[in-house]
Amino acid sequence: MARTPLIAGNWKMHTTAEEARALARAVRDGAAGVGDVEVVVCPPFTALAAVADELAASAVKLGAQNVFYEEMGAFTGEVSPPMLTALGVEYVIVGHSERRQYFHETDDVVNKKVRAALAHGLKPIICVGEKLEEREAGDGWKDLVRGQVKAALAGVSVAHAAKAAVAYEPVWAIGTGRTATPAAAAEAHALLREVVSGTFGRETAELFRILYGGSVNPENVKELMAEPDVDGALVGGASLKAESFVAIMHFGE
Ligand code: PGA
Repeated sequence: MARTPLIAGNWKMHTTAEEARALARAVRDGAAGVGDVEVVVCPPFTALAAVADELAASAVKLGAQNVFYEEMGAFTGEVSPPMLTALGVEYVIVGHSERRQYFHETDDVVNKKVRAALAHGLKPIICVGEKLEEREAGDGWKDLVRGQVKAALAGVSVAHAAKAAVAYEPVWAIGTGRTATPAAAAEAHALLREVVSGTFGRETAELFRILYGGSVNPENVKELMAEPDVDGALVGGASLKAESFVAIMHFGE
């Protein structure tokens, strides 16, 4: 496969720094023989330094769950791209549905964050996905997720686009145990690759990774990863236990 699979764990608002350290150590040990798969863990901000320390001599990479788009200034409570890169952070999740839902992040804010991340050398994992009522209302969800990807990547150069990834995460599948069928994921991923192709060209689209997210676990990862347009997974709940996350990075084998 031209695209190296990417398996990212989104720890969400879980783990103190000490708990994160222990989890990172177990993930690191489990990832030792994983082969040609890029593994990323995204702990909360408060645990990034501790996890960076544990991962120092490992191939497992560090990601953050969010970033602000300004470099510095009077933005109480926010964290800037240079603050993340200074800690060794390489990836950042942008526009997760929980941020869109609870923190009112719009496509415009997501786009600003994506561009700021890329400008500072961070690789954004851009989350898109439709809600249950949107999925059930016919084909409209297709335009919706297409629009989310286009908006998130607006104004991004071809060179920068190659560093980004998209995570297709149907909201109805997040934390619900209700995974999209491999065929449904494949349909959405093919559609999103067309968007990337239309915007940045076929060559970039062939290298561009599109992850699936939503109740990925050791039992369903293999058939999801068997779909040619599924290039990895963004894993929530199952990334909080080293055993299941390690099984997922081995595609359930
Ligand atoms: P889940 O979360 O694996 O717990 O469904 C995925 C995500 O929200 O990124």
